[in-house]
Amino acid sequence: MPINIVSNFEQGVLPDVTITQLFLMDVEQFLDSLPPEPIFDLVVTSPPYNIGKEYEKQMSLDDYVAWQKRIVKKIYPRLKNNGSICWQVGNYVENGSITPLDIELAPIFKELKLHLRNRIIWHFGHGLHNKNRFSGRYEVIMWYTKSDVYTFNLDDVRVPSKYPSKRSYRGENKGKLSGNPKGKNPEDVWEIPNVKGNHVEKTSHPCQFPVGLIEKLILALTNENDLVFDPFSGVASSGVAALLHKRHFWGCEIMEEYVNLGKERLEQTVSGKIRYRPYDKPIYDAKTSALSKIPDEWKETNNENADI
Ligand SMILES: C[S@@+](CC[C@H](N)C(=O)[O-])C[C@H]1O[C@@H](n2cnc3c(N)ncnc32)[C@H](O)[C@@H]1O
Repeated sequence: MPINIVSNFEQGVLPDVTITQLFLMDVEQFLDSLPPEPIFDLVVTSPPYNIGKEYEKQMSLDDYVAWQKRIVKKIYPRLKNNGSICWQVGNYVENGSITPLDIELAPIFKELKLHLRNRIIWHFGHGLHNKNRFSGRYEVIMWYTKSDVYTFNLDDVRVPSKYPSKRSYRGENKGKLSGNPKGKNPEDVWEIPNVKGNHVEKTSHPCQFPVGLIEKLILALTNENDLVFDPFSGVASSGVAALLHKRHFWGCEIMEEYVNLGKERLEQTVSGKIRYRPYDKPIYDAKTSALSKIPDEWKETNNENADI
């Protein structure tokens, strides 16, 4: 299966939705070129956070929100009626003061009358250690649907129940097993390691999201052969997740270096050579590391303090 890189196409002519394509262009230019037909089953992305990364021009918060609004409004008519939008965001930070971007961007989706189904907390264990506030260890995925009829394959993402042997203790089901043999709902707080340091998925991109985070959304919110679109696709992490699960993928990205890396990763996915951390791999237990032992020097310090 070829992975196309497309840097322009004829205005108003729909590219083939059954081919995985990476559009090397500005996302507004890309969306303006597409006919306004509902083609996307899932739009999933992590936009720039306006925090001065190498791939973004920093702007005022108002300008940033206005820019995001233009993009979401251009996506809206291209989303199928039973489709979903997942916008994954963290904080805009200025002078140590945080602005959670989901709060700033929520009115855009509300104005379009999209339905907020979950505000998923993506919790991860690593990051900067702050001195003047608590260290940030989560970001948010706002999951919206266009209508009340939408794809939601809960059974495909169930997790093992805590108490599978639990039985109802009253009512007409008294004595019967109360859980689901396929497992329980995975809930809205997800623990997935972020792509830092020696993470198996790390590329030169400074802000990749983990493939596992998107795998879960793709399995639950789309079916095989559906079209997944990431308007800020970076190194195509969403594409890797889509192709792993037999969905089609379109990504749009403005930086050529990332598009090329994305293409490589998608080709590795097709050939089965992609290195990634599956969403259901258990979290590493830090207590098993020699580094988790209290060093002798600190034991002495703690004892001294205890005497005071
Ligand atoms: C937070 S990163 C997304 C990373 C991606 N989720 C991944 O895992 O690789 C945001 C991306 O948006 C791209 N970008 C910024 N402005 C853009 C624009 N106007 N049009 C398209 N892409 C843009 C950046 O180059 C960057 O790669």
